[in-house]
Amino acid sequence: MKPQGSVFTAGMQHALQTIRRQPKAFASGRLQRVVGLKLEATGCKLQTGQRCLIETRGRQQLEAEVVGFDRGKVFLMPLERATGLAPGDRVIPLAEDCLISVGDGLLGRVIDGAGKPLDGKGVLNCSERISLHGETINPMNRQPVVESLDTGIRAINSLLSVGKGQRLGLFAGSGVGKSVLLGMMTRYTSATVVVVGLVGERGREVREFIDHSLGEEGMQRSVVIAAPADESPVMRLRASMLCHRIAEYFRDRGENVLLLMDSLTRYAQAQREIALSVGEPPATKGYPPSVFSLIPQLVERAGNGSSGSGSITAFYTVLSEGDDQQDPIADASRAILDGHFVLNRSLAESGHYPAIDIEASISRVMPQVVDSNHLSMAQRFRRSWALYQSNRDLLALGAYRKGSDPTLDEAIRMKPAMEQLLQQGMHERSEWQQSYDQLRAIWS
Ligand SMILES: Nc1ncnc2c1ncn2[C@@H]1O[C@H](COP(=O)(O)OP(=O)(O)O)[C@@H](O)[C@H]1O
Ligand SMILES: [Mg+2]
Repeated sequence: MKPQGSVFTAGMQHALQTIRRQPKAFASGRLQRVVGLKLEATGCKLQTGQRCLIETRGRQQLEAEVVGFDRGKVFLMPLERATGLAPGDRVIPLAEDCLISVGDGLLGRVIDGAGKPLDGKGVLNCSERISLHGETINPMNRQPVVESLDTGIRAINSLLSVGKGQRLGLFAGSGVGKSVLLGMMTRYTSATVVVVGLVGERGREVREFIDHSLGEEGMQRSVVIAAPADESPVMRLRASMLCHRIAEYFRDRGENVLLLMDSLTRYAQAQREIALSVGEPPATKGYPPSVFSLIPQLVERAGNGSSGSGSITAFYTVLSEGDDQQDPIADASRAILDGHFVLNRSLAESGHYPAIDIEASISRVMPQVVDSNHLSMAQRFRRSWALYQSNRDLLALGAYRKGSDPTLDEAIRMKPAMEQLLQQGMHERSEWQQSYDQLRAIWS
């Protein structure tokens, strides 16, 4: 028998491809009920996560995703704002996995959770299409974190060194300088591609971040994926997955990617909205259990690839006010990330920027990515800084007599140099070597 491929001419092959891309002739269903965000349909067999189109009376097609079912009833959630829905509207299942466009054409662009351009610069110039759901990497094949990444931030480079492939949490309340810090990293890092996910924040902040924090300079090698708070929760989840998938694409091409996601808390809240509306019971502080399994699933996609590929170094912002250890999302993230940087409000209020609380922050991979000399200097700095901070009141009162404690004397002497190392203007760059030299200069 002739092999099947040879029967078809090129034209026929093309026609076949087109047909394959069409929605398969799955039985379409009907919309029965709409409660809040949840749509209920019957008459169609769908899988969770599957996409479908809802055809409204006005002949509009609205994309929705299957988020659960109950015997014959299927629960859907729309990707866009759902208006004009009516009982009996047709629900047409889509056969195809969600495909996204990738390529160099993404750089310098702003797209939404569905991969559509938001910046008015026309269509994306990307020819490659890949599935939104990438394959997970066997943890045994992942390259270990051994090389440092220049973040362009002095305090981080010198005292909280980050490794290529590390995943970190940036814990902070609002207005303490998260966006400025992330923006500085996009402009000054040595990473070759920067992927920024702006998920669940206010729409105004997206514009501000792009215009002020990123600027022309940062934008050139960045892709921004934005799904602000007014988008549907499905869209916000999809935007989070999309920024990871795009980062994976560039990593697999050998790039060292910096992935910044603002914020992981809003991602968790989107999943909470979906889970609660399909009836999952809340467990910890209003969060249903599925949220806590989804966070590691997402975060696990960042990191190093198998040998020969590049890396994804990821920063996830986590909203936390003050010393609130109770927030379940902050707790869960702290446990699964390889380090956490805490931004402190009182530092910010006193004009100390970036407001990184050195005592409360840690980079768990630092010992693997810097030499022992660097590590011991960083530890010496931390000890001096902590000692100074714990004696601040005493010093302010003038109750300390010089000479009573030589280590405190040293800390007092070093204080101005230490402060200079920690503080950095928002338009100032500090390369790795420069940061290291400044750390060493403190004691010379
Ligand atoms: N490195 C810095 N130098 C000077 N001012 C800063 C710096 N970082 C932050 N700020 C100040 O803090 C304000 C709030 O920062 P922003 O990044 O918007 O906070 P968040 O994103 O945490 O809400 C900025 O408008 C700016 O005035
Ligand atoms: Mg912000």
